[in-house]
Amino acid sequence: MGISQLGYIGFRVSDTDRWGTFLTEGLGMMDAGFVGGSHRYRNDALSWRVSVESGAEDDVSFLGFEVSGQAVFETLKRKLADDGIAVEEGTAELKRLRNVLDLFTCADPEGLRIEIFYGPGESDEAPFISPAGVCGFLTGEQGLGHVLLTATDMDATRAFYRDALDFRLSDMIILEIGQSQPLPLEFYHCNNRHHTVAFLPLKGPKRMQHFMLQVLDLDEVGYAQDRMDTVGAAISLSIGRHSNDKMISFYAQTPSGFDVEFGFGALDVDDSTWRVTTHSRTSLWGHKTPGSLSENWKPEI
Ligand SMILES: [Fe+2]
Repeated sequence: MGISQLGYIGFRVSDTDRWGTFLTEGLGMMDAGFVGGSHRYRNDALSWRVSVESGAEDDVSFLGFEVSGQAVFETLKRKLADDGIAVEEGTAELKRLRNVLDLFTCADPEGLRIEIFYGPGESDEAPFISPAGVCGFLTGEQGLGHVLLTATDMDATRAFYRDALDFRLSDMIILEIGQSQPLPLEFYHCNNRHHTVAFLPLKGPKRMQHFMLQVLDLDEVGYAQDRMDTVGAAISLSIGRHSNDKMISFYAQTPSGFDVEFGFGALDVDDSTWRVTTHSRTSLWGHKTPGSLSENWKPEI
């Protein structure tokens, strides 16, 4: 038994003001205040889900994965240590800052900081209210959303995320791009969300290719796409439907250059009946680069 959900994401960005506008007025997240040097944002009952700190990286700086409670937390900590992965107990100050009961940290094979925790703080006394009027985000047991990370060593990546953290392969999209070798994208789940982490096996300019937030109504995808104009964010891929998780979504460029995916309607994974499949396209329809006749997504890396 391993990770139960993606709890939170941290970014280090060069323009925190633009990020604030993008997350609130653009994506509809709620400002949760400035705490310990980071701007925090929420999209559900938890006290925060996204942290934005000032820094030159313009990339993801940490991922927080939640486990169900102390027993799993201790078992996973021992398992990682037995696997030779360096783990470090969270300090009292860090636990207070993250607003969790307990936490340890480690790093993925390419150095991304990973925080494993349980017991996140809820803020039910101040209900989530979207400043952009978004009716609600699909979080709960499915967590914040998903991330697509670049990875140069897939053997090491599988050993960490699949074997150590117990993510399960959902499916693969194997892209044929020009004359080069096929590009296999791998999608992994830890709960009913089709994928919580996915990997693009390339050396990219950043670890984060995109992160995804899911809303409860299809119209919210269209409203959000329209709001990208007002916050000055370029659409990277128009509305389309993915081949594997069947999500209807669009992609927009964050102020740090990587993308956000904003979607609705992904199918759920049931481990008792799920079959691993492969796909040769990313999308059934749409997801076109604006101004392009391309009918399929091509990595811009
Ligand atoms: Fe995605």
